[in-house]
Amino acid sequence: MKKMKTGGPLFRLTNKDVVPTIEYVNPSLLDLIYDPPFVVTKAERDLILALIWPLKKYLGVRVPPIGGVPGEQSDVDALYKERAADYLELHSLTTDGADDQWRRWAAEIIVAQSGMINHLDLFTGVGSTAREMLTACQKCNRVGRIVALDHSPEMLKFAEAITERMFGRTAFVLNEIQRQWMRGDATKLNFSGQSFQSISAVCGIGAIDYPRVLQVYEEALRVLKPGGIFIVTEMHRPRRSEPGVWPMFGQGGEFLQAAESLVWESYTLPFALGELWGWVDPTPGEEVGPFTTITDSDGKHWGWRIEYQRFEAMPWRGIPVMPYYWGILRKVPIKQRHVNLRSAVIDSLDLITA
Ligand SMILES: C[S@@+](CC[C@H](N)C(=O)[O-])C[C@H]1O[C@@H](n2cnc3c(N)ncnc32)[C@H](O)[C@@H]1O
Repeated sequence: MKKMKTGGPLFRLTNKDVVPTIEYVNPSLLDLIYDPPFVVTKAERDLILALIWPLKKYLGVRVPPIGGVPGEQSDVDALYKERAADYLELHSLTTDGADDQWRRWAAEIIVAQSGMINHLDLFTGVGSTAREMLTACQKCNRVGRIVALDHSPEMLKFAEAITERMFGRTAFVLNEIQRQWMRGDATKLNFSGQSFQSISAVCGIGAIDYPRVLQVYEEALRVLKPGGIFIVTEMHRPRRSEPGVWPMFGQGGEFLQAAESLVWESYTLPFALGELWGWVDPTPGEEVGPFTTITDSDGKHWGWRIEYQRFEAMPWRGIPVMPYYWGILRKVPIKQRHVNLRSAVIDSLDLITA
């Protein structure tokens, strides 16, 4: 194994400079800047790719790629039109059943946060997160409204049908939760400012390429009420600091960590995310999204405080090929100089990723 390259800082921000409401620079953003790629020899690379080949074959047969350009809205729409009828089963297969956990986590946090629910579920798909919320609301005796938004009319059609089947037509009355399915674009929301107390995006931001994905964060800032939360969960590239666990070998040292990165680059991202689900790398959105800001019509500046984030090297059938990000952001007031600093962070990342 060759020696790892090391990188130097491209910009320096002190805690004081960044923002009082974010006590630290997003640690994963620093990872993105400092984290040098693993270097593997050609033989090692070929070996890893040969080991992963059966996995790709198996999944490709069960969930055949539909084609199109990942992140291109018209192609993403075409893909979900085709996938809508079998979506739940196929998504569960490609996430090894972990998707239910991700949705339940988001739903339960939101329901636990507020007595009166006023929620927007972005990228709702066939409405699974909205249904998790209905279940949590029933358990915790919560009332309010949930608006579930997606760009694909076909996915929404199934969302409505499945929900009727599970909760019945009277769910709205029994639960006093106003369910509302809505076609819309998460990058251009058709709601006035400060409409919702909470927003979720579970397995959704990967549909939107960078830097367009930053519009999702800006729109979420705009339509959230002050103090409201935005929950984002989605895939993330592997992080050196959170290596996955391999069957029999544990974390396995440098080689297996390098393998995890290579599997991400050559299998998870282009195939499992790109070909099967029309996804682009969600990592830049997760890293940079928390630095987005808006200025409202009264001239007040708003930004995010990172309440919580977690990265997990999740396994698929025991193999660590789908690292996952969980984040909770809160809308907070910020000052003009923090707007400038946050936008400097975004510009710096543009330079790095260009
Ligand atoms: C992986 S699926 C569904 C995710 C869903 N939250 C879940 O947990 O199953 C992603 C969804 O994002 C939707 N989508 C893609 N681009 C969108 C956009 N610009 N605005 C809103 N929804 C979009 C797709 O139509 C698709 O239904």
